[in-house]
Amino acid sequence: MRKIIFTVLLTLVFYFPFINSQTIWLDKLDLSSMSSGWNTPQADKSIAGNPLTIAGQKFDRGVGTHSISTFLLNLNGKGKRFTAEVGLDDEATSQGSVEFYIIGDKKILWKSGVMRKNDSAKKVDIDISKIKKLGLLVTDAGDGLDYDHADWCNAKLEMTGNVNSTSLVASIKHKPYILTPNPSDKPRINSAKVFGVRPGHPFLYTIAATGKRPMTFDAEYLPVGLLLNKKTGIITGMINKEGNYEVKLIAKNSLGKAESKFKISVGNTICLTPPMGWNSWNCWAEAVDADKVKAAADAMVKTGLINHGWTYINIDDCWAIKPDSHVAMPKDSLTSGDQRDKDGMINANKKFPDMPALTKYVHDKGLKIGIYSSPGPLTCAGYTACYQHEQQDAERFAEWGFDYLKYDWCSYGNIAKDKTLETYQEPYKVMRSALDKVDRDIVYSLCQYGMGEVWKWGDSVGGNLWRTTGDINDSWSNMSGIGFNQAGHEKYSGPGHWNDPDMLVVGLVGWGPSLHPTRLTPDEQYTHISLWCLLDAPLLIGCDLSRIDKFTLSLLSNDEVLAVDQDPLGKQASRIFNESGKQIWSKDMFDGSKAVGLFYTGVDNKAKDPADYFNWNKIPTKEKITLTASELGITGKFKVRDLWRQRDLGTFKDKYTAEVPYHGVILIKVTPKNK
Ligand code: GLA
Repeated sequence: MRKIIFTVLLTLVFYFPFINSQTIWLDKLDLSSMSSGWNTPQADKSIAGNPLTIAGQKFDRGVGTHSISTFLLNLNGKGKRFTAEVGLDDEATSQGSVEFYIIGDKKILWKSGVMRKNDSAKKVDIDISKIKKLGLLVTDAGDGLDYDHADWCNAKLEMTGNVNSTSLVASIKHKPYILTPNPSDKPRINSAKVFGVRPGHPFLYTIAATGKRPMTFDAEYLPVGLLLNKKTGIITGMINKEGNYEVKLIAKNSLGKAESKFKISVGNTICLTPPMGWNSWNCWAEAVDADKVKAAADAMVKTGLINHGWTYINIDDCWAIKPDSHVAMPKDSLTSGDQRDKDGMINANKKFPDMPALTKYVHDKGLKIGIYSSPGPLTCAGYTACYQHEQQDAERFAEWGFDYLKYDWCSYGNIAKDKTLETYQEPYKVMRSALDKVDRDIVYSLCQYGMGEVWKWGDSVGGNLWRTTGDINDSWSNMSGIGFNQAGHEKYSGPGHWNDPDMLVVGLVGWGPSLHPTRLTPDEQYTHISLWCLLDAPLLIGCDLSRIDKFTLSLLSNDEVLAVDQDPLGKQASRIFNESGKQIWSKDMFDGSKAVGLFYTGVDNKAKDPADYFNWNKIPTKEKITLTASELGITGKFKVRDLWRQRDLGTFKDKYTAEVPYHGVILIKVTPKNK
């Protein structure tokens, strides 16, 4: 008997740690709080979406990220071992170099040393018992974060007892809070103050104005060829003569009258302020159809967003016909079947039965409409695209009545012979010259994710805007990674040619058909909109407008905030301060003031000690950020106005200090006293 008891006890002692332990794979955790210097960390894929590969070795599981990347896990002393194989992903070019750190309660437990391309994966196998917080860090190894595609392969935590994996990842829930005051009942004109059009091309501009209805509109000194509908404020027509026309716009209601100067520039430059509108991709993706596009146009009017200057209703991918095969097709088969008609003109699929009727529907509301395609044979989602039909497609888009073309890169990768700048530029030049031959102004948006530093040449190939990044999604790491990495691009942006950090991820998003509320906290959403406005970014709402909630509407209808984006000077903000998880961005405005964003990002991207990349304690809710006059290049006294709250904060001398919420922003307008 004693022997049996002894054997049972021995078995228990031997097996207990195994019974009472749990393996948690890193790739199964909610990665939304893993920060990444570029793109979004993904489970079982590299940061660019390829299979995880280190020095030729493929891994089925793990997490692909990009320096600088942090991920803080709450182990609460329940950890046993952490194992992984780490290295630079093969998709990074030779310039990439990273250093992996595993930090337990502020102490470095393991570090990889500098790792470069073709270094074999390094094995990690460390004791994490008694650790309360475990930080996984990838630094840029001190040489800047370019091409630092870093992989945590086969990464897993051995834990004691039953651990709920959601409790491992720090997440905080916040309630939305509205800052935007309700617009006054008195008229206020909010539409862009400058507008470019080519001579002899159709003109469409809607005077956007808030205030009580009924409202009537008027315009003084309107150039010959234009007609204003006084009830709707929609101006249409055509101007034949080049030149600048100074117009006075007027909006009147029972409570008063608003006037606004408006400059029409007739020449070869259009898109003088960043486009503002809606795009189908971030909500509907492949589930888009004509009814959803109409619903977006209806909602733009019904919600009143049109009165704040929102203009475009853009159809993204998935309107053309999808060939059976997704692989790039041989040239001559492109003209066959009903993807194109017998003359090679592109057709829309059944979800878009009547494109001209759809564009008319949108135009009749005073809105504009956009379409999407790619220079390759297929779009990113595998639909028929423009390759070798560029002129016909440009003509088709014009004939259908489109005002905007987003032109992707997808499947052109199979055509491109190399990775030279010339090859990157070629397809965009071809479409530019095709668009130049149609008698319609079509805003030209290049979407090739920043390859070949497109910001340096997007303007020279005739782009009105160009994506500077990979695709956005609704996580803090992705949105803030994209937004805060725009520093340095400002010198390439200006009226008619804008940097595009991708579309907005507020409201109900989800890449269709099912949608979810954005995963960004309210403060992160304030950061998103404020930063995009400071960056003079095109503002394309990516949510289902027909189900927009009050909070999202408030984010998108603050006229003083939107005016930062639409400022006629068109000077993108520069980052003037970046330390200890605090950043200040400043943008020169037309009236001599500066729009300034004070952001508390919470993570120090230039930390000296690896442990300083993390917030080890309870995440602070607010932090003081001080802006000095000298940082802004001004002297003496200055006035400060809070733009979200639309409230004057007073006059300050030398400096101004604000309390900024974690991952949030205080957006102000600074006016030197002598202005
Ligand atoms: C790319 C673009 C997205 C969207 C899709 C459509 O991924 O970056 O914005 O247009 O293609 O397939």
